[in-house]
Amino acid sequence: MFLKELHLTNFRNYRECKLNFSKNKTIFVGKNAQGKTNLLESIYYLATLSSIRASNDNELVLKGHDVAKITGIINKNYTDIKLDVILNPSKKKIIKVNALKKTKYSQFIGNLAIVNFCINDLLLLRGNPADRRKWIDDAIGQLYPAYKDRLLKYNKIRVQRSNLIKEYKGKISLTDYQQDFLSVWNDQFIISGSNLVHLRQKFLKEIQIRAMEKHKHISYGDELLCIKYNSSVAGDFNCIEDDVQPSKLIAELFEQNIEKKQKEELIRGQTLIGPHRDDILFFINDLDARQYASQGQQRTIVLALKLAELDFVENIIHDNPLLLLDDVLAELDRFRQQYLLDSIKENTQTIITTVDVDKFDSDYLQDVDIYSVEAGTVRR
Ligand SMILES: Nc1ncnc2c1ncn2[C@@H]1O[C@H](COP(=O)(O)OP(=O)(O)O)[C@@H](O)[C@H]1O
Ligand SMILES: [Mg+2]
Repeated sequence: MFLKELHLTNFRNYRECKLNFSKNKTIFVGKNAQGKTNLLESIYYLATLSSIRASNDNELVLKGHDVAKITGIINKNYTDIKLDVILNPSKKKIIKVNALKKTKYSQFIGNLAIVNFCINDLLLLRGNPADRRKWIDDAIGQLYPAYKDRLLKYNKIRVQRSNLIKEYKGKISLTDYQQDFLSVWNDQFIISGSNLVHLRQKFLKEIQIRAMEKHKHISYGDELLCIKYNSSVAGDFNCIEDDVQPSKLIAELFEQNIEKKQKEELIRGQTLIGPHRDDILFFINDLDARQYASQGQQRTIVLALKLAELDFVENIIHDNPLLLLDDVLAELDRFRQQYLLDSIKENTQTIITTVDVDKFDSDYLQDVDIYSVEAGTVRR
């Protein structure tokens, strides 16, 4: 697939920006805080309907304005698809495919597929569990468009269940009526949550197979990478050894664990269990990479994960996703940088941001469109 056009109105620091892409490789060069990441963020939004870094849509709208718009034209299988997102933080966002309004995220996501690799990803291992969940949630959302709808539904149920738990806070035992009422919420919570855990296991298992090979190569074969999905619902899932658990089995485990936790939840007045509390851990030769891996080793893991994601997405969609590389190349040493560039297929549209093009091999700079970005203005 190919992103042909991108049109931003009042998005971040762009008043108005229209770009036409014609080559497979595009580089945006500019000093810090000029709007390079904002450009990639708009593309990320078209693919995932979530922002790379903003916690709410408010931040995405140009200060002093009410509404932002992102429009992209994608060419896929010789057909153009027009995607519009209209962000009006005081209302629900409007999403359109070929000018037709869509009500579900799953009707929009999946048109544009991207893999995003940014400088913050290099801190994925050191970051907090929410960052790691966001990584897989956005990636899975692109592969199984219904996932985002289910995640939204899960979060709605979770909030309502949490309100109830808060209401019951401090109770040592519940009346039959209260227990029944909680059970109704528990049932919905378990059904929607189990499916998320199942799809996360499935995704991580695929990433494991691919990342392990790539990681072996970059680390000269003497390190074994193992991903573990640490779930409050279904326990530890070793992505090398364990088989993906069916949703039904996960639901049974979820139910048992929720029963065990009920007392503690009521004492604390909080939901203490569910996929929103899960984490992903990385081990090298059986040692937890958060504590034992050097900064270089951690970067190698993240590079292997991102390339595994690229490979897996290609495999599922039978097409090349867009690759966004935000500031990341300059942070990798020559060997890792070369490995990354060599791993990108010739017909993969790659959009790169950097402060300095001198960091690139002159070979790579052939047949590239280079733009400069300065204070929300893009020039060729
Ligand atoms: N909603 C917004 N309205 C106006 N300016 C914004 C908004 N959000 C971010 N910015 C500005 O965008 C710039 C950061 O852009 P960014 O793309 O992160 O820069 P970089 O080129 O370093 O990647 C900052 O100057 C910031 O003030
Ligand atoms: Mg940036």
